[in-house]
Amino acid sequence: MTHWWRRGVFYEIYVRSFQDSNADGVGDLEGIIQRLDYLNDGTPSSLGVDALWLTPIYPSPMRDFGYDVADYCSVHPLFGDLRTFDRLVEEAHRRGIRVVLDFVPNHTSSDHPWFRESRSSRTNPRRDWYIWRDPKPDGTPPNNWVSSFGGPAWTLDPSTGQYYLHSFLPEQPDLNWRNPRVIEAMEDVLRFWLDRGVDGFRVDVIHKLVKDRALRDNPKPPPEEEHPVYHFGGQVHLYDEDQPEVHDIIRRWRKLLDHYGERMLVGEVYLFDAERLARYYGNGADELHLAFNFRFLWSPWDATAFRREVETIEALLPRSAQPTYVLSSHDAPRHRTRFDHPSLGDARARVAALMLLTLRGTPFLYYGEEIGMRDVPIPPERICDPVGQRFPGLGRDPERTPMQWSAGPYAGFSTVEPWLPLAEEYDQCNVETQLHDPCSLLTFYRQLIWKRKRSLALLEGGYRTLPSPDGVFAYLREHPEQNLAVALNFGNEPVTVTLPRAGKLWLSTNVGRLETEGLHWNLAASEGIVVELEGSRTA
Ligand code: NOJ
Repeated sequence: MTHWWRRGVFYEIYVRSFQDSNADGVGDLEGIIQRLDYLNDGTPSSLGVDALWLTPIYPSPMRDFGYDVADYCSVHPLFGDLRTFDRLVEEAHRRGIRVVLDFVPNHTSSDHPWFRESRSSRTNPRRDWYIWRDPKPDGTPPNNWVSSFGGPAWTLDPSTGQYYLHSFLPEQPDLNWRNPRVIEAMEDVLRFWLDRGVDGFRVDVIHKLVKDRALRDNPKPPPEEEHPVYHFGGQVHLYDEDQPEVHDIIRRWRKLLDHYGERMLVGEVYLFDAERLARYYGNGADELHLAFNFRFLWSPWDATAFRREVETIEALLPRSAQPTYVLSSHDAPRHRTRFDHPSLGDARARVAALMLLTLRGTPFLYYGEEIGMRDVPIPPERICDPVGQRFPGLGRDPERTPMQWSAGPYAGFSTVEPWLPLAEEYDQCNVETQLHDPCSLLTFYRQLIWKRKRSLALLEGGYRTLPSPDGVFAYLREHPEQNLAVALNFGNEPVTVTLPRAGKLWLSTNVGRLETEGLHWNLAASEGIVVELEGSRTA
């Protein structure tokens, strides 16, 4: 039997924006409990997802909306309490839904008691839990490292006269993962939640945990190779991330989890070099169970671009490892917006979903993508995200707006004005309207997810690229008992695709497609199809 994290469809819930149950305009755990039947009630009338990843729920001053943790073993009162969390796990498990928490080990909040102690004096026993260094003789920071949120990665603490390192905001000091006490304390955190029954963790910026021991300056990239994302801050991130010792820590965590049975680690390995990403799977059984591949977030709407990404990762992962794809997340513009088109926007969203859910890999959906939620323009006075405050236009609020449940007041998300604005189009684009519409995007997601659960080719089959005309990405999912061919037309014109063998239509993104059998298939503009091929022999 394949592991649940290999077969399952994951669903990322940005907790602040999913469902508010106590009229404060912010989503909470009770709200998630109320919506569990929508997510999976065991029947195809629900979405049918198998696991939830909750963004951080811990006490936090919310400078980075929960990614600045002030207490790893508790729940922020905004979201509920530990009893509500236990009930959420119980209710989810009763429906066969797993619960995965966001684990944020690279940094704490500057309000965390560990950091308060650490900064209190140079001799405090917790001083070495964080990364402190003297200024250079001229008073400037110890090296040239930059924060992912802009500016230097060092802040001077005047009371002790040293700089501390923060890969993100100054209010998110980096822990010192070369200190064994930190490793032990964080293992206690993992045990705390595993004992409460959580099924795994999404590990925040796992590739950043360990830094170069000598804190060497990062070099500059050659100008012709400079890339705005990989080389943020104009540097090759040679010394401030992806150090070999991080793998020792991951191997320890894997052992710890294995001890608990069927639990899972999925790492946010924000590296764009697929070879380096693949290393985080270890030998396929001793490091991460899954590592996010974010390359789709940067892919243009282009068949060749997606095919290349898939082939690259398929070629590099250890044999037993499985890719993990995402089209949208709380850190990137939604794909419904990225891939929009004046007349084919909805059709493209279906093709994207068909790809995500039929590739060999564990798919992660982002709440609202199943109804085609788009980015919402945020007026300047309502910007919350620190990135948006610092770099207008680049903030992450537009993809974090409240879930659109109904055409009623506040889209059924809350009974008061939500923390971020609602999409203007929520009266059209919402769950209630789409649930009863046989042609809606939500209906398509539901059909696909439920059919996927019964498909051996999709759950366990291998991947092979198929030859296809320009503008089409086609592949085979092969299993001794079922061969499915997938053909996705990324183009804006119809095209004919010839499959290796004749077969019957398994699913199309076009409702009411007429041609349902054959060897040659005419695809409409932005149409995707899955065909079950005759016989079980591999093509
Ligand atoms: C990655 C998270 O996904 C992002 O939202 C957060 O701001 C940074 N890590 C810092 O924790």
